Amino acid sequence: MKRKWLTIFILVICLIAVSYLVGSCNKHDIVHVTTPLQQIIPAGFPDPNYKFTDNPLTEEGFQLGRKLFYDGRLSRDSNFPCASCHQQIAIFGTYEHDRSHGYNFSHTLRNAPPLFNLAWQKELHWDGRFKSLYTEATQPILTHNEMAENFFTIIFRLGSDTQYRQMFKAAFGVPVPTEDKILRALAQFTGTIISSGSKYDLYKKGQATFTASEQSGYQLYQAKCATCHPEPMFTDYSYRNNGLPVNPELNDFGRMRVTGKSEDSLKFKVPSLRNVNLTANYMHDGRFNTLLQVLNHYSSGIQSSATLDALLVNKIPLTATEKTDLISFLKTLSDSTILHDPRFSKPQ
Ligand code: HEC
Ligand code: HEC
Repeated sequence: MKRKWLTIFILVICLIAVSYLVGSCNKHDIVHVTTPLQQIIPAGFPDPNYKFTDNPLTEEGFQLGRKLFYDGRLSRDSNFPCASCHQQIAIFGTYEHDRSHGYNFSHTLRNAPPLFNLAWQKELHWDGRFKSLYTEATQPILTHNEMAENFFTIIFRLGSDTQYRQMFKAAFGVPVPTEDKILRALAQFTGTIISSGSKYDLYKKGQATFTASEQSGYQLYQAKCATCHPEPMFTDYSYRNNGLPVNPELNDFGRMRVTGKSEDSLKFKVPSLRNVNLTANYMHDGRFNTLLQVLNHYSSGIQSSATLDALLVNKIPLTATEKTDLISFLKTLSDSTILHDPRFSKPQ
């Protein structure tokens, strides 16, 4: 009888030891399982520039990135998550603002670009300062007029939060946050916001028709705008000077700040025209509130300078009807599905 109990006792000890071993294996990533995500490449889009090969997409990584994106604790005073400047109601730009507000009542130098189709961009920021989404995200976190925080503090804060520990473990196998994992997760979130559901996209698939005004706006766009803003991404990702007078308060000379070359003075990355009706204000410093102001600039406001793009030396004269038609066409590029997509909204 005694021997039977002893055997049961030893068996129980063995079971506990085995389950402990398996548990600790989990902790060390041996049986760590994630849910892979396929990068979405809409029909008709070119090959993306960033394919997540060094940062494999997973549902767990995406969800962690989404939580981080909306979390004020990544900023010094908790008030400036990424989403404070990149708002879903403005396709992840700052709603109807010229420049955005950051830590300590400061202003950003430039207009916050909307975030979509980022995997197709060759370089990020208006002057192309960053080569990848991964390196870009360090900038807002560290910069004094954005989130003004440091990774040491963020890692300490997130590392003492049980839910974050679970999410880091689910995404990357280890519960401890690191700078590398924070940047990977953020890139998985921002890099998978895809916009390809506009009326224009349906028209191209033969599933929608254009009104007469939209159709004539499309022709005007093809004749006058498409060299710099070509289909289907509506940008050629180059840096150009489109004749905006420099704002003397900001003294922003664009691409020249990165290359140091005078031939790059006043050149800025050509922005996509997709969703443009949903992403006011316009231009690198948000100087225009409306699309009509933008068209007035192209038809009569262009300022000549040494680096003005050759395509614009004679301006782009447009009649009032042509402006109306062009705006009708630009509105067909709006993909309002992003505005309401719960997948990209603040997690509960
Ligand atoms: C205080 C406002 C603010 C906050 C907070 C902020 N951003 Fe930005 N973001 C901007 C501005 C302004 C730019 C344009 C910078 C430039 O071109 O010089 C920008 C540019 C970007 C770009 C490049 C987009 C493009 O088309 O080139 C990405 C990506 C981005 N931000 C992601 C993030 C992420 C991720 C976070 C959080 C970690 C974040 N941002 C926090 C204002 C902000
Ligand atoms: C020579 C190249 C070129 C041509 C042609 C051109 N653009 Fe642009 N466009 C740019 C550049 C560069 C910018 C960004 C300039 C800046 O912010 O400093 C821009 C910005 C814009 C913006 C602001 C978008 C935003 O998100 O801020 C709109 C709208 C726009 N262009 C529409 C048009 C239309 C419509 C036409 C044709 C009538 C046109 N563009 C022709 C180069 C061009």
